[in-house]
Amino acid sequence: MNTRAPTECPSWAQLAQHAESWRGVHLRALFAADRARSLQFVADAPGVRYDYSRQRLGALTLRLLAHLAAERGFAEWREALLSGSKINSTENRAAWHTALRAGNSAPAEVRETLARMRGLVEGVRSKKQYKRIVNLGTGGSDLGPRLLADALSDGALDVRFAANVDPRDLGRALEGAQPASTLIVVVSKTFTTQETMANAAAAKQWGARNFFAVSSNVEAAKAFGATEILPMWDWVGGRFSVWSAVGFAAACAMGFDAFQEFLAGGRDTDEHFAREPLEKNVPVLMALIGIWNANFLASPTHAVLAYSNALRLLPAYLQQLEMESNGKRVDRAGRLVEYATAPILWGGEGAVSQHSFHQLLHQGTHVVPADFIDVAEDAVLSANLRAQADALAHGTEDDKLPPHKQYPGNRPSSMLYFDKVTARNLGRLIALYEHKVFTQGILWNINSFDQFGVELGKALAKKILTGER
Ligand code: F6P
Repeated sequence: MNTRAPTECPSWAQLAQHAESWRGVHLRALFAADRARSLQFVADAPGVRYDYSRQRLGALTLRLLAHLAAERGFAEWREALLSGSKINSTENRAAWHTALRAGNSAPAEVRETLARMRGLVEGVRSKKQYKRIVNLGTGGSDLGPRLLADALSDGALDVRFAANVDPRDLGRALEGAQPASTLIVVVSKTFTTQETMANAAAAKQWGARNFFAVSSNVEAAKAFGATEILPMWDWVGGRFSVWSAVGFAAACAMGFDAFQEFLAGGRDTDEHFAREPLEKNVPVLMALIGIWNANFLASPTHAVLAYSNALRLLPAYLQQLEMESNGKRVDRAGRLVEYATAPILWGGEGAVSQHSFHQLLHQGTHVVPADFIDVAEDAVLSANLRAQADALAHGTEDDKLPPHKQYPGNRPSSMLYFDKVTARNLGRLIALYEHKVFTQGILWNINSFDQFGVELGKALAKKILTGER
C-alpha cells in the first residue's frame, strides 16, 4: 500500500502554490462574479445535500485535491477499508465498522448478534420489568449511544448514561430509580477501563442486580456478573462501534426497528462512498475541503454547528471520532509528519451558540471553517443558520461603519441539509463523518484507527493512585 508522504506528492506543491492565488480573493466577490456558484459547488448523497459554495475554493482547487487523493492511492485504501483488510497496521486489525451495517451481506456473527439484540431490546421494551436503563461506558462506549438516545428516544423507557467517574454522574443516572427495576448495561470493549469499572462497582454497591454487558472481554464480563453478554469485535474500534451492540441502550430508547433504520442509513452512505466519483462523493469532498482549509489555508480548528436540538450532542461525538482518529503526529511509516493533521474540532447547538462564541467566528482573529447542519424542520432554525453562513461569507461592505461594527467576511463554511431528524438520516450523517475521517487519514498517511495517545495518562493516573508516583 502507498505510504508516500503527502508532501512528496507533486499535487501537494501545486496546491501550496495554488493557495497563494487565493490570498486576496473574497467570497463576496466570487458570488458577485458567478451567480451560479451556489449551484456549482453542491453535491448530493442519500438524504443530504452538501453545499460547499461558501468555501474558499474553485474548480481547480478540487481537481488538485482529487489528484492528491489519487497520488496517495485513495481508491486502493478505500477498497481495503470496505473489504475488511487489516489497515490498522499498528494493531494488526481491520477497521471494518461498515460490516456492522451491511444488512444481508454482514458477517454471520453480526447478523446473529443483531437478532439477539432485537430479542433483548424488544423484551426490555415490552415486559416493562425495567423502569430505568443505565448505560455505563466512556468514549466510544458512551458518546454514540448517548447521541442516538438523545436524538431519537421515543419516550417508552427512561434511558440514562454515566461516563464520568465522579460519583455525581452515576448519582444523577440513578436518581429516583429502584434497584429491582433498573437494568445496568456495562459497555466496555476491554472491560478494564478504570472509570467504567468503578461506576459498575458503584452501581452494584447501590444495590443494582440486573447487569448486561457489551464487551470483547467475555471472561471479565462474566466474572463481574453480567447475565447477558453481547460481543464487541477487535475489528471494530470503540469510536466506530455505535453500529454494534454498543448501541444497545440507544436501541432500548428508540426501538429496534429505528435502530435498524439507523444501520440502513449508514449503509446508504457506504454505498455512496464506495461508488461515487471523487468530485461527487460527499464524504470525500468533506475530507478534501478539510485538508484544503487545514493544510493550505492554515486553519487549525474546525467548528460543527448543528441547529437541531436533537443533534446537540453531535459535536462531542465528532470530537472523539475526528480527534482520536486523526490527532496523530507520526505517519504510517513511523516518521514525524511535517504538516498539520486533524484540526481541533469544536462546536455546539448553533441556535444557542450564535448568542455566545459566534462573536469570535465573525469578528475574531481566528478564521474557523464551519459545518452548518440543517434539518429544515423549522423555518426559524433554517433562517438563522443561513444568516450565519451568509454573514460569515459576505461580511459587511460599508466602509462608513465604525471598525467594531464591520464584519470582515470571507470565512468559509459548508452546509449539510437533511429534511428531518430520523434514525436513517442520523446513520447517514455519522457515516459521512466516519468516511471523511478515513479519507483524511489516508491523505495524511496516518493510521486513523489506533489511539496510543490516551495510554500514558491512564498509566500515570494508576501510579499516582497507588502512590508509586
Ligand atoms: O481511553 C480511550 C478509549 O480506549 C477509547 O478509544 C474508547 O472508546 C474508550 O476508551 C472506552 O474503552 P472501552 O470500551 O474499552 O472501555
